[in-house]
Amino acid sequence: MKTYNIAVLSGDGIGEEVINEALKVLYSLPKEFNLEFKRYAVGGAGVDRFGDPLPKETLDGAKNSDAILFGAIGGKKWDSLEKHLRPEYGLLKLRKELGLYANVRPIKIYNALLDYSHLKRKTIEGSDFVIVRELTSGIYFGEPRAKFDNRAYNTMVYTKDEIKQIAIYAFNLAMQRKKKVCCVDKANVLETSVLWREVVSEVSKDYNEVELSFLYVDNASMQIIVNPTQFDVILTENLFGDILSDEASVIGGSIGLLASASIGDKNALFEPIHGSAPDIAGQNIANPLATIISAAMMLEHLGEFKASSSINAAIEAVLNDGYRTKDLDNNSFCSCSKMGDLVASYVTKV
Ligand code: IPM
Ligand code: MG
Repeated sequence: MKTYNIAVLSGDGIGEEVINEALKVLYSLPKEFNLEFKRYAVGGAGVDRFGDPLPKETLDGAKNSDAILFGAIGGKKWDSLEKHLRPEYGLLKLRKELGLYANVRPIKIYNALLDYSHLKRKTIEGSDFVIVRELTSGIYFGEPRAKFDNRAYNTMVYTKDEIKQIAIYAFNLAMQRKKKVCCVDKANVLETSVLWREVVSEVSKDYNEVELSFLYVDNASMQIIVNPTQFDVILTENLFGDILSDEASVIGGSIGLLASASIGDKNALFEPIHGSAPDIAGQNIANPLATIISAAMMLEHLGEFKASSSINAAIEAVLNDGYRTKDLDNNSFCSCSKMGDLVASYVTKV
């Protein structure tokens, strides 16, 4: 039987709670392959245990894994530490060191939740798009960067090769979907965006079947809310993708439902897009579905398509049967662990 080596980095806040539910669901799968889990500290938990948000054994463990399942990082306790000790630094360094350049964030609507969005049902019905966010460059990593008392600066920098790599990823993904790529940028102001347009147009020549369009990011942020069904693959740089993906989570009803994959040539990491939510940590009320869906994306990446679709079908069935976590229904809700129990038991039924 095939064995996959999974590095589990649950991190801080609700990270541990939501990861435990994803593991519960993975354990409940029929035994058609083995998953070997190894846990490592990251973020604030890494700082507390090893004085480092990305301890060496965590980085090595992640590098040597077949896939990484990641929870969430951050919290007040570590906010005032210097930059290289902050939890976020651990995640950014992990992405960079592992070369996880393609961040894939699917925006999907569950039929059972069509009336749970802040947006009208008629606006969101039929929405199904993916944000492909460049994850290892841009203003997040650009040098020079500095902060002084009265002045601070960051640099948005992209090379042609970096843009080409993520553009190819987006076009390949579009080929398996509705064959549309919308490149989101700020080419009316930023030189980096002008280069993005040039490179993305060049790459598109190898994909005749894919329709390419461009939107300025300010306009795109409005279009995502007023007409989300127009999109298939949104291709964008690091910071724009960060912002647009939180915005897009409104469509599905809760950020607690949005999963992501971060893909590199050698490694892949799967995580919910939400943060560590310290305000609700330890209360067993978080929504574990984003992490469970991330685990399903992980199985798909590993080629275990049957297991992956059985998790997705189980989630669909649990939602169809009316179960909701507190983020979706403040009056009548089940706990985080109950939601995990339900998906785990439905996995064997669907
Ligand atoms: C995300 C998060 C991270 C990011 C933070 C925690 C560094 O917001 O994955 O979207 O900005 O990339
Ligand atoms: Mg974000």
